[in-house]
Amino acid sequence: MLPHLIVLGAPGSGKGTQALKLVDTLGYKHVSTGDLLRAEIKKGSELGQKVSSIIAKGDLVSDEIVLELLKNNCEVTKYSYIFDGFPRNTVQAAMLEDHLLKGTKKLAVYFKLDLDLLLQRIVNRRSCPSCGEIYNLQSKKPAKDDTCDKCGAQGLVHRKDDNEDVVKNRLEVFRENNEPLLAFYKNAGVLAELDASLAEKDVFESLKSLLK
Ligand code: AP5
Repeated sequence: MLPHLIVLGAPGSGKGTQALKLVDTLGYKHVSTGDLLRAEIKKGSELGQKVSSIIAKGDLVSDEIVLELLKNNCEVTKYSYIFDGFPRNTVQAAMLEDHLLKGTKKLAVYFKLDLDLLLQRIVNRRSCPSCGEIYNLQSKKPAKDDTCDKCGAQGLVHRKDDNEDVVKNRLEVFRENNEPLLAFYKNAGVLAELDASLAEKDVFESLKSLLK
């Protein structure tokens, strides 16, 4: 079984993009707490209503809510997972270890890049409402406007929290939590990093070599 993979990095550093590639090529399961939370908002569930304004501001949802959602959406003894967007802080890192990953093989990979590069990446992001494929209006346009290359769905989505003001707050939240989180995984002896400023295909090569 492949090690569980914990992808760490700022909003827009390319975690989701690379996770989808690993799902297609190595058979990982991908669990993104951001996607799970957005699905709850779309459904209009009680949980979705509770978290909607928090996400709209770019703040973090409570650790317990996200852990519960995560536990209900993965079977770590059966499959190898990519954890994307969880943990966001050391409390969540300890929760992940205690409640899900204790005794399993795992690798945490930090997607390192200059935060100044991120604003443009994020405000230009669009994603497929059907298969989740991720595009960028500057660097990775779909062949046909507003249409997913992969599944043909129309109406690519611009996330509500992908606007300049909210992105600035998301980056600030990231800055506050990142160093202690990296220290957590360094102390556990499972931290690796890659240069996330490279082209998508080169980041993917780095990631695959870390998994060898
Ligand atoms: P979440 O959905 O997790 O968003 P995020 O962490 O802010 O990460 P992103 O999805 O923005 O970035 P990414 O690294 O996946 O980048 P991507 O590959 O798409 O969280 C959203 C919100 O939910 C949070 O703010 C919070 O409120 C809440 N939340 C979620 N998890 C939580 C938790 N655990 N606890 C509490 N609250 C939680 O790429 C971005 C763009 O760049 C794309 O357009 C892509 O095409 C482009 N791109 C990717 N790679 C490259 C490359 N190599 N070169 C050039 N462009 C590239």
